[in-house]
Amino acid sequence: NMLDVIIDNKIDIDGFGACEATLSCSTCHVILSKESYESLPEPVDEENDMLDLAFGLTPTSRLACQII
Ligand code: FES
Repeated sequence: NMLDVIIDNKIDIDGFGACEATLSCSTCHVILSKESYESLPEPVDEENDMLDLAFGLTPTSRLACQII
């Protein structure tokens, strides 16, 4: 998934992916294009709950660790 890509490439985003994809943080919040957002399956309830806590939430926000 996208989080693995970021970790594998050692992209230095401070605090990104803090919970290692266990849906207990919102540090992996990303804002997608409308096209990308619509091409993905709907977020599960747990992801929506964490997204509600994300800073700067948008209608096309997702948690990157949940996007495969
Ligand atoms: Fe914590 Fe994605 S890394 S929810």
